[in-house]
Amino acid sequence: MADPKMVCLDDYERVALGKLLPSVRDYYKSGAGEEFTLKLNVDAFRRYRIKPRVLVNVSNRDTSTFVLGEKISMPVGVSPTAMQRMATPEGECANVRAAADAGTVFILSTLSTTSLEDVAAAAPGGIKWFQLYVYKNRDITRDLVRRAEEAGFKALVLTVDTPMFGERRSDRRNKFTLPNHLTLANFSGIEATKINKTTSGSGLAEYCSSLFDDTLSWEDVDWLKSITRLPIVLKGILTAEDAILGVEHGASGILVSNHGARQIDCAPASIEALPEIVEAVGARAEVYLDGGVRQGIDIFKALALGAKMVFVGRPILWGLACDGERGARDVLRMLKNELDQTYALAGCKTTGDVKRGMVVHESSYSRL
Ligand code: FNR
Ligand code: LAC
Repeated sequence: MADPKMVCLDDYERVALGKLLPSVRDYYKSGAGEEFTLKLNVDAFRRYRIKPRVLVNVSNRDTSTFVLGEKISMPVGVSPTAMQRMATPEGECANVRAAADAGTVFILSTLSTTSLEDVAAAAPGGIKWFQLYVYKNRDITRDLVRRAEEAGFKALVLTVDTPMFGERRSDRRNKFTLPNHLTLANFSGIEATKINKTTSGSGLAEYCSSLFDDTLSWEDVDWLKSITRLPIVLKGILTAEDAILGVEHGASGILVSNHGARQIDCAPASIEALPEIVEAVGARAEVYLDGGVRQGIDIFKALALGAKMVFVGRPILWGLACDGERGARDVLRMLKNELDQTYALAGCKTTGDVKRGMVVHESSYSRL
């Protein structure tokens, strides 16, 4: 049974922040720079208004939808977040089981503390996508792609906003490293353990700057397409221009994201960037969003502004930190219940009933 005192995602955040080791807590919660966009990601949702319709018979509701041809129970899934065994001993396995049980998409990070094969085995029936960071040594990436295909992952999520990591001040202050009993489990050798040490500031920043490929360009999207049969989702797009390039380079999905405000501070909130991208992409690819989603109404707003589905990053980590798999399940359950309630109160029976025009920016209500 889930803890009845937990009634919303913010409850999980508050309790998790009190439970985690300070360096893990700070790594999970922080954003880049002075964390302007971190706050904006959440606040910007409040600048949109829902225009509810009434006297619609909503007795029979259905939050399911389809993404990349697969049916999911609700238009919210799990964003990739690194190193989940710092939150709970079962880490990524607990998380993938929770997502599979909720009937939605789980995205596994390249930087997981459980191997992709073990994660796949933990939830063979779940819909899993694999997030890719591209290493300077392309054989490493080629190998990850092959393994993800073999393990039954259904899409590759190429993170395009990380030629280096953003400036996370607390990680530098804390000299953040992955605790020694854990490794980056998709690898052996230096790629697995370089993150357990640091010579100066953040061990993660050092890991990334020595191993990730900062020459990545659109040509590499073509390269990736040439070595896989899986659909490619580009994660970290914030402009119409890049969304159009993404479609031209064959992306099946565009994940509008500022990486949970962890890369460049003062980037727009994801929900602010969404409308121009939806308009630019049209029907040529699916558009998703992550960043700042904390309630069912946030999901509704993103759908009405054109997203096919949304993802949550930190809230799942808070669920894992509070109560392992049960906590992650409860976070997903809450989001589903809140979304279902929003459908009812806004006059929607199905996800397809959530239409443009049901959500407008606050400026359309302002009067001089
Ligand atoms: C992330 N994110 C991320 N993204 C990615 O592509 N690969 C990764 O390994 C990680 N790791 C990661 C760790 C932690 C601790 C956080 C908070 C975030 C970004 C993540 O996928 C997502 O874009 C954001 O978390 C979404 O914002 P919210 O839901 O956390 O507000
Ligand atoms: C982060 C990574 C790992 O944001 O993407 O910490």
